[in-house]
Amino acid sequence: MRTTMPTKSVYLETMGCQMNVLDSELVLGQLRRLGYESTRNIQAADVILFNTCSVRDHAEQKVLSKLGALRQLKSAHPDRVIGVIGCMAERDPNGLISKMPHVDLVCGPGELNKIPALIEDVRVNRTRAIALARSFSRKSTPLQRAVEFDSVEALDLSREPAPETRVLQSYIRVQRGCDKFCTFCVVPFTRGPERSRPPQHIVDEARMLADRGAKEVTLLGQTVNSYVHAENGRPVRFAELLARVADVDGIERVRFVTSYPGDFTDDIFEVMRELPKVCEYLHLPVQSGSNTMLKRMRRQYTVEQYVELIEKARARVPGLTIASDFIVGFCGETEADHEQTLQLIERCRFKNIFVFKYSPRPGTVAHKHDDDVPDEIKRRRNGELLSLQDRIATIHNERLIGSTVQVLVEGYSKAALKAQQAEQTRGEEVGWRRRDQLVGRTRTDRIVVFAGQPQHIGRFADVRVTGTTSLTLHGTLVNNESPLNPAEPSNRPLALPILASG
Ligand code: SAH
Ligand code: F3S
Repeated sequence: MRTTMPTKSVYLETMGCQMNVLDSELVLGQLRRLGYESTRNIQAADVILFNTCSVRDHAEQKVLSKLGALRQLKSAHPDRVIGVIGCMAERDPNGLISKMPHVDLVCGPGELNKIPALIEDVRVNRTRAIALARSFSRKSTPLQRAVEFDSVEALDLSREPAPETRVLQSYIRVQRGCDKFCTFCVVPFTRGPERSRPPQHIVDEARMLADRGAKEVTLLGQTVNSYVHAENGRPVRFAELLARVADVDGIERVRFVTSYPGDFTDDIFEVMRELPKVCEYLHLPVQSGSNTMLKRMRRQYTVEQYVELIEKARARVPGLTIASDFIVGFCGETEADHEQTLQLIERCRFKNIFVFKYSPRPGTVAHKHDDDVPDEIKRRRNGELLSLQDRIATIHNERLIGSTVQVLVEGYSKAALKAQQAEQTRGEEVGWRRRDQLVGRTRTDRIVVFAGQPQHIGRFADVRVTGTTSLTLHGTLVNNESPLNPAEPSNRPLALPILASG
């Protein structure tokens, strides 16, 4: 006799990097196929999962406080399943369980394909279910690595976006793990050794996404440019992979993050210049402008080599923009080291930078050193890097005023969504301009806001830049056959500075 399974609901909250965003999408996809519905209501969810990040202590503390707040819910409803998945689960499962004994499911990033089975285990056997890839040891034999690989590859191969999933801009994993062991970084411990996915799997995934409406794909890896996979006994490297993905019909833009400065080869620049679909954008973390720090971080390049690399990249790829990451207050960082970082920022003309205060991570080499830069100094250095970058970016962005850029329209800006909500809930009148503010992204990863209409969303549009801030360009649609609003011609500059992020 057939019975219909009652629908269960899952609340999944994602912290951290793009890899986690993709992992969450894949986990939800697997659960959906088993009849789960995704919910934003944590209090009512049958299964609550946090996909976590361990890169900095702050990210872990946030999860712990969210878990702490669920203690009561769990004792009132013992049948609810509470799980911690991702890097924090892998990094310190015992510490996690001892602090949060009401957690029933712990699953590392290399085991996520087991989540449906783990949930079932918790429900049926009323025990805690744990899946970790502690076998991620550099001592693994090639056969062990291959078995591990097949098991995690299954998660990516299971990808099948639901009809309502927004695939316009999609991530595709091309690589797992990292072999670099920068002395500050926990990723090689949580995500295991570097393994590149078979190129054909990646191309097939791009084709499947294109068939469902994807126009832009971002290839993900911790050191994506060091991608290499043996295919029929021949190594396929990153430049070739880029070309193969760019060949997929329907995909109009190909991006990739994150690149490792030490592993760039000229063929990647050639592909970026020659293939119109490959975007002129690099995320190329440098971490510091001081060679002493780079050495202590074990980054395997010098400041001079980094500068030479980006000069070469800019010479080979016209119009290229570059983003970078910095860590301030790493062990022993002096004012002189910090000055050198400011000088590097001045010199490199980054499009944007991400700055992090050094956070010691247990298990890493740097954890054994003194975290000797006081927090208030880290904070000041953090602020100095950002305000210098702000000034530089504003000057560079101002040069774009008057030019026309092509954007892929992602949707409404945050301000527009807020305005629409205010209209709906409080009946407030907001100007049509604010309500209809769209946000798009250029090939070079610049964010542009402009007034438009819902039918522009998901399409390419030309926008004339009329104003800028350090992070956002403002503009007006050009070649727009039908005026957006006869009363408000579309080529008037925007009145309101609107903050938007992608
Ligand atoms: N290659 C990876 C890097 C992952 S961590 C990628 O895909 O981006 C992202 C950034 O976090 C790093 O570039 C570094 O700037 C920062 N970071 C890593 N470990 C850190 C730590 N212990 N403290 C502060 N920042 C850290
Ligand atoms: Fe981390 Fe360095 Fe790899 S920052 S992810 S160990 S390249």
